[in-house]
Amino acid sequence: MSIIILGIESSCDDTSASIIKDGIVLSNIIASQAVHEAYGGVVPELASRAHQQNIVPVVDQAIKKAGIKKEDINAVGFTRGPGLLGSLMVGTSFAKGFALANNIPLIEVNHLQAHILANFIQEPDKEFHHPDFPFLALLVSGGNSQIIIVKDYLDMEVIGQTIDDAAGEAFDKCAKVMGLPYPGGPIVDKYAKEGNPDAFTFNKPRIQGLDYSFSGLKTSFLYFLRDRMKENPNFINENMKDLCASLQKTIVDILMKKLEKASKETGLKQIAIAGGVSANSGLQQALRDRTKKYNWDVFIPNLGFSLDNAGMVAVTAYRKYLKDMFIGQDAVPYARMTFEDVE
Ligand code: KG4
Repeated sequence: MSIIILGIESSCDDTSASIIKDGIVLSNIIASQAVHEAYGGVVPELASRAHQQNIVPVVDQAIKKAGIKKEDINAVGFTRGPGLLGSLMVGTSFAKGFALANNIPLIEVNHLQAHILANFIQEPDKEFHHPDFPFLALLVSGGNSQIIIVKDYLDMEVIGQTIDDAAGEAFDKCAKVMGLPYPGGPIVDKYAKEGNPDAFTFNKPRIQGLDYSFSGLKTSFLYFLRDRMKENPNFINENMKDLCASLQKTIVDILMKKLEKASKETGLKQIAIAGGVSANSGLQQALRDRTKKYNWDVFIPNLGFSLDNAGMVAVTAYRKYLKDMFIGQDAVPYARMTFEDVE
């Protein structure tokens, strides 16, 4: 018998629903919220309201696109955290109601774990290139920068993480300083393609072990621009592409240095990336460069599955379904959740 899972994601500013049948994604609908652009960041209350508006149509579309009936669904998985509490509550409440109304089990999903399992999303009629256990994962998003040993679908160990800002935050905050809209990461990436990555240099952190730090870069970037603007008020506009390319190179260099160290220390050469920043072209290229240099086998999720999406939630829920890992109607979302909170 086939197993069909509905996945729901509402942890931040994307409302998403996905249908997965026996691990193969049939639909992955994402409604993004343009409302936040004017504010330079996600406004939690507006995000919750937009989720309320979007959740029913998004789920409806996901079911229709998958070509299944609501009654065919065997379980519903939802992001329980980490994320914005008001946003998480919308997805959690919807999932509970859906499970109750259809008399099917409910499965909680940790958003961080789901980002990594995005590397196991199988698309119909496409080659399924996935890592074998154990492998190393670099999780880089707006809220996380972590190096993880993935021992099994549901068994992950964090061996390095940021002690302050995340890599995505570094992209977004530096972009904001340059007057670019939120989220800045994709725009910096776009300009970087036409700029000189060696035009400017910025401070890199000196942190022990496998941990990251990005707050120093943000400060160094800010002071650098402030000084240059004193000499030339038009400095940012005149150098936008070179600034973006140099900033991106610095962030990618910081990420790669610790990833290389982790690979050396663990002996693992299969490297997967996950989270929104994994869409970055500079990071992807840096990884590909290492396939020859260090004999790495690199795994990069398709764009639709690297940013926040319900496909990754559904694939994680599918793995939990196979192990009867269900939860009750008294489940509540958590704004903070770590890998230690993963069952
Ligand atoms: O995983 P995600 O969609 O949301 C969470 O944080 O959970 O990641 C969003 C982050 C933002 O910081 C955004 O600027 C960054 O991913 N991002 C990128 C790119 N696309 C998204 N950063 C650099 N280059 C990109 N192409």
